[in-house]
Amino acid sequence: MGVRRGALIVLEGVDRAGKTTQCKRLVQALRDSGKEAEMMRFPDRTTMIGQLISSYLEKKSNLEDHTVHLLFSANRWEQVPLMKKKLEQGISLVVDRYAFSGVAFTSAKPVNPAEVAGRGGFGDERYETSVFQRAVQQKFEQLIKDPSVNWKVIDAARSIEDVHTEIKTLSENAINIAENQPIGELWK
Ligand code: ADP
Ligand code: TYD
Repeated sequence: MGVRRGALIVLEGVDRAGKTTQCKRLVQALRDSGKEAEMMRFPDRTTMIGQLISSYLEKKSNLEDHTVHLLFSANRWEQVPLMKKKLEQGISLVVDRYAFSGVAFTSAKPVNPAEVAGRGGFGDERYETSVFQRAVQQKFEQLIKDPSVNWKVIDAARSIEDVHTEIKTLSENAINIAENQPIGELWK
């Protein structure tokens, strides 16, 4: 019998929802229970493409919207061979943002650009304004209606521990189900 494949577990949500905190907790909990798990994050700012994205997010450079969308996409594709290899080796990947952020953030851009500009309250990076984040949230709400993706909605307005407990249970179920399924492709 071959190695049982790992699961692709993606945490999505607006900036500061607690994704990074939960990804780290989840990887640790899965490892503690004897499962192989690794964390990844997108954008992956360590690659050459990631450095272009990082400079754009830090407002050190300007890029045309379609161009930056394609850079985010390329930044995921450049990791896909490695991700597939790890999944085939039985390692579950816990990913801090993936293609859903790509869709939600880019498609939120036509929403009220004038209003978005100049509003503060978040960090200093591009997109970190409450108006823009609300638009992103609405886009995520549309995306989760797609039944071809196994979405679970988590109420992130609870304690770190409570959110973690729910995500851990859902992830363990997803890992058990994924073991017996071939690796698929998103939106196909
Ligand atoms: P994200 O990766 O979604 O941007 P982070 O995990 O970096 O979010 O969390 C943003 C901030 O909120 C951090 O300071 C973190 O410690 C805090 N935080 C995360 N989850 C919670 C929670 N459930 N309740 C209160 N604060 C939280
Ligand atoms: P990230 O470094 O995860 O920031 P945070 O810790 O605030 O969640 O993501 C950087 C920004 O890039 C974030 O505002 C979301 C955005 N983004 C896109 O616009 N498109 C994408 O494809 C991805 C993955 C992220």
